[in-house]
Amino acid sequence: MDNIESAGYAENSMNTVTLAMHGSIAVITIDNPPVNALSLSVRQGLVEAIEVADRDPHTSAVVIACDGRTFIAGADIREFGKPPEQPWLADVVERLEDATKAVIAALHGSTLGGGLEVAMGCHYRIATAAAVVGLPEVKLGLLPGATGTQRLPRLAGVERALDMMLSGNPIAASDALDAGIIDRIAGGDDLLAAAIEFASEMTGNGPRRVRDLPVPAADSDVFVAIRKKIVAKTRGLLSPEKIIQCVEAATQLSYTDACQVERDLFMECKDSPQSSGLRHAFFAERGVAKIPGIEKTAPTRDIQKISVLGAGTMGAGIAYNCLIAGYTVHLLDSDDAGLDRGKTMLRSLYEGGVKRGKISAAGAREGLHHLTTSTSYNEVADADLVIEAVFEDMSIKKDVFAKLDEVCKQGAILASNTSTLNIDEIAAATSRPQDVIGLHFFSPAHIMRLLEIVRGDKTDDDVIATSLALAKRLGKIGVVVGNCFGFVGNRMLYPYGRENQLLLLEGAAPEYIDKVLFDWGMAMGPNAVGDLAGLDVGYKARHARTDLPDDPRFYRVADMLVEQGRLGQKTGRGTYLYESGSRIPTPDPAVQTMINEEATRLGIDQRDIEAEEIIDRCIYSLIIEGARILEDGIAIRSSDIDVIWTNGYGFPRHRGGPMHYADSIGLDRVYDKVCEFQKRFGSQYWEPPKLLQTLAAKNGQFGA
Ligand code: 3HC
Ligand code: NAI
Repeated sequence: MDNIESAGYAENSMNTVTLAMHGSIAVITIDNPPVNALSLSVRQGLVEAIEVADRDPHTSAVVIACDGRTFIAGADIREFGKPPEQPWLADVVERLEDATKAVIAALHGSTLGGGLEVAMGCHYRIATAAAVVGLPEVKLGLLPGATGTQRLPRLAGVERALDMMLSGNPIAASDALDAGIIDRIAGGDDLLAAAIEFASEMTGNGPRRVRDLPVPAADSDVFVAIRKKIVAKTRGLLSPEKIIQCVEAATQLSYTDACQVERDLFMECKDSPQSSGLRHAFFAERGVAKIPGIEKTAPTRDIQKISVLGAGTMGAGIAYNCLIAGYTVHLLDSDDAGLDRGKTMLRSLYEGGVKRGKISAAGAREGLHHLTTSTSYNEVADADLVIEAVFEDMSIKKDVFAKLDEVCKQGAILASNTSTLNIDEIAAATSRPQDVIGLHFFSPAHIMRLLEIVRGDKTDDDVIATSLALAKRLGKIGVVVGNCFGFVGNRMLYPYGRENQLLLLEGAAPEYIDKVLFDWGMAMGPNAVGDLAGLDVGYKARHARTDLPDDPRFYRVADMLVEQGRLGQKTGRGTYLYESGSRIPTPDPAVQTMINEEATRLGIDQRDIEAEEIIDRCIYSLIIEGARILEDGIAIRSSDIDVIWTNGYGFPRHRGGPMHYADSIGLDRVYDKVCEFQKRFGSQYWEPPKLLQTLAAKNGQFGA
């Protein structure tokens, strides 16, 4: 391999781009770990390298490849919050395309976003069979902003391009080849050699520029249909509509004019609070694995066999989740009927998985092969991990853990799926509290991505590290939290739900509150959620507590509903009515009458309540509980709270999570509003936390 130094270029200042000759083929290599993002130095290096290669008389063609685990995975998202610096990525892409010699992109790993835009600026593309390509910008509240919205329709057609850009999901190399996005799949395992060979073949052919290709015809019905198709999924989001507008522009305007449309709309997206929220969510989810004092490479315990105790709603879902992740699973219930219910649920989960194409029929049979069931604790003895999901009752949990202590092998991890109870108290029922941890799954356990990992006072570090690794293998985001009533998620749910309940008594109808919060972005309103989860669950948890506020209004409506047998969807009646097994909530006048009468009894003057007050009271109550959680050290960092609420409680991801939302409003404004509520509604619930007060005074942020 000859260096091209003689032609005036060795490597750029940050060493992220190098240029070397393989015969007459110039190979430009990007090395910008971890994912070869298009940071400033890479953009600069690419321009410098292509200039040199293009004017070098000995160079016949150019290959662009990447070192490390992947081709370019996109623009450097960390740069989006800072003032932009030239060269713009779109200009880099144009410069590559302008080259007079054939430029070949050699793709491996994930070619995403700006990475695919760079590849589409090259004249030809070759990829490994395992490579994937995609334009995931929509997931960050963006659109492909370096000519991707113009190039992809030219290569793959309007509908395919829209589908890829609106879903943001990558496609496999074989599909990319079928779609015309790449030209060749490299045989063998030497991508660079295959790319150089491809470049040699293309030497005589010269450049084939994507911008010169026509946009395949698409009639206007395509755009009408796609808007209809995505309306529910993209509720409240800005960038999907703008992506459609860019593609419409591609079909109507010249390449240059349509690129200007793309540029303008990209800037609008980039500067929007939505993109800021989604980018925050992206990094927050990657930040959760960073646990002070526990290295990413910390030792973990070997987990092969998992015993799940309690074959109810959660136990069966957890067992299924573990089975499809490839673990051997034993499911135990104290009674035969419970076990049968669990087995039936597991079978139907497998059937559903097969029906939806998530798993093959053979895979389902194989999975069930790795399942054993029993009502005997002897079967638990050789488990590496036990996940307890029996009734939410401290005395039952203590009995179960005492029994586990007797039968389980040394070194086994003993986990509880409790949603609220004290992990240290549970651990104290054993002689090995260092092995005990909370693994709080969310319902449905095989679908919800969140796993709260509750660290007890004495939990060993390797138990935490193993739990994080388990979360990853189960396809979940594990967030390590401290031990207190409800941990992070359910602790914050309390004040949120409390405000909903107070608002009901003060005159806001359940369906109105739900609509206001749904329109604001919550996945469901709190009253519909209560009916879905079962109002008895919260009722039991509240009534087991001894520290409830002295307030007759506190969760009064929910208590009355439960006491009338209105438990929610499962009884066909809760806050709403559910006609004959339907899941669609219908407002029930009888509930409104009950609420009104109770308000009168309690001396509450009902009034019209503006949507803004509903949002502020519900969301600010979350924020101040989040601040208290930070003060108490229950969450490691504020972004962990955001991950919990966006992944476990339907908080709109584009608002980043409650703590990021507070930061984006400005903590001084949040503080002022909390003080206003304190004056209006009293200090019992609206005392501003010290942390909020301090940060507000110095213009700080929870996420700083
Ligand atoms: N910019 C900056 N950092 C990035 C990044 C990016 N585009 N993509 C990933 N990273 C960082 C992560 O934050 C993480 O950092 P950490 O180790 O400090 O936590 C590290 O790279 C590794 O990332 P993952 O943990 O996600 O690694 P995986 O192997 O699980 O996944 C991946 C790799 C599939 C590339 C995944 O990181 C990913 O999907 N990245 C985002 C891709 C993307 O959204 N690209 C589009 C960007 S926007 C754009 O290009 C705009 C353009 O059109 C103008
Ligand atoms: P469930 O009532 O559906 O199932 C509990 C099962 O445990 C029953 O089948 C019962 O027979 C069995 N059981 C009871 N005592 C037992 C014992 N001593 N040994 C073995 N099995 C026993 O309950 P669900 O909803 O699955 O909840 C289980 C746990 O998960 C609770 O701690 C709950 O707080 C928690 N959780 C529940 C969520 C939910 O949405 N349902 C969400 C997150 C956590």
